[in-house]
Amino acid sequence: MNAYKTVLVTGGAGYISSHATLALLQAGFDLVVLDNLCNASAESLRRVAQLSGRAPVFVQGDIRDRALLDHLLAQHWVQAVLHFAGPKAVGESLAQPLSYYSNNVGGTVNLCQAMAAASVFTLLFSSSATVYGDSATVSITEDQPLGQITNPYGRSKFMVEQLLGDIVASDKRWRVALLRYFNPVGAHESGQIGEDPNGIPNNLLPFVAQVAVGQSPELAVFGHDYPTLDGTGVSDYIHVVDLAEGHLAALKAIYSCPGMEVWSLGTGNGYSVLQLVRAFEAASGRHVPYRLAERRPGDVATCYAHPGKAAAELNWISKRDLHSIMRDAWRWQSQNPDGYRG
Ligand code: NAD
Ligand code: UFG
Repeated sequence: MNAYKTVLVTGGAGYISSHATLALLQAGFDLVVLDNLCNASAESLRRVAQLSGRAPVFVQGDIRDRALLDHLLAQHWVQAVLHFAGPKAVGESLAQPLSYYSNNVGGTVNLCQAMAAASVFTLLFSSSATVYGDSATVSITEDQPLGQITNPYGRSKFMVEQLLGDIVASDKRWRVALLRYFNPVGAHESGQIGEDPNGIPNNLLPFVAQVAVGQSPELAVFGHDYPTLDGTGVSDYIHVVDLAEGHLAALKAIYSCPGMEVWSLGTGNGYSVLQLVRAFEAASGRHVPYRLAERRPGDVATCYAHPGKAAAELNWISKRDLHSIMRDAWRWQSQNPDGYRG
């Protein structure tokens, strides 16, 4: 039995959100998806509907459009919001900081104002492990001081966390979950939905997949002199379906948690860039040529979650291992070489 019935999913046609949308539809929620399709295709939602046997209501539009939000929240009797919408490329955020602050910070302010006006006080926010910055510890717990954030994208996530804390403190009706994702990777096991980056991917696994199919000649491994097992950076890669299930668990938990809660969603395991490349080669049977390159500014040597708080409070842990991640990523890539355009 779900405590909430109708949920608005902002940015719901995107990579992580399409998997969350599928999980929520399968769990019986009614969904309204608002997405401006600046980094997504409505084809993802068509496939989600095919997989779940139920279609979300889809509205193409922007979270900065207050009149549209007012209309959606009222017309569909929305009770909770999963807020994914916003750009996420670190490099782009350095070149276009105002666009990041307008979308991520301004968009969230607009959304929260519309929610309060419609008496909708439950929000799950897509935050990021990037707010931990270059943490002194490597097994990162939610309560550690937030670190030096090196780019406007990360700072915009941090600012949203702060502003959500302020509105929760000002009005006891709010229930807010800050979900700090580690590195989401992989695809739904059907091979029907997955990550479909625009142009050259920024993140490691989509780039590795493009090298494997010959769309890029080789991978540049950023940094080979870190104090790690093989000198390359170690990160916490979480299967996107596990992450989607984490949202379902958080939505159920927040119903009985007034105030603000923070949960890191990660696996608790770290893998190096070269370990990830080898696991992809094993799952795909393809060779991934690479060259060792300079460190990428803003990267850290080692970063992985301490998943204990989410396990205890959400009764959620990640279940899918590195092999499943690679197998599912490869199935998506090989079945959809041109993403949703194919
Ligand atoms: P994505 O780009 O696939 O999804 C974001 C969606 O939001 C897209 O469908 C895009 O079209 C839409 N969108 C963007 N701006 C919008 C606006 N103003 N109004 C309406 N729709 C808008 O990205 P993703 O990887 O699925 O990330 C989802 C969320 O998770 C983002 O907030 C991102 O910052 C956060 N996050 C992602 C990662 C990651 O590595 N992918 C890690 C941590 C946090
Ligand atoms: N890397 C390479 N070559 C590439 C791309 C990445 O060697 O072409 C390396 C990076 O240096 C890093 C690792 O692969 O060591 C992972 O990099 P990603 O770009 O895939 O991911 P990030 O850790 O930089 O960032 C991701 C999300 C952030 C989120 C963070 C949380 O993009 O939004 O995970 O841990 F905050």
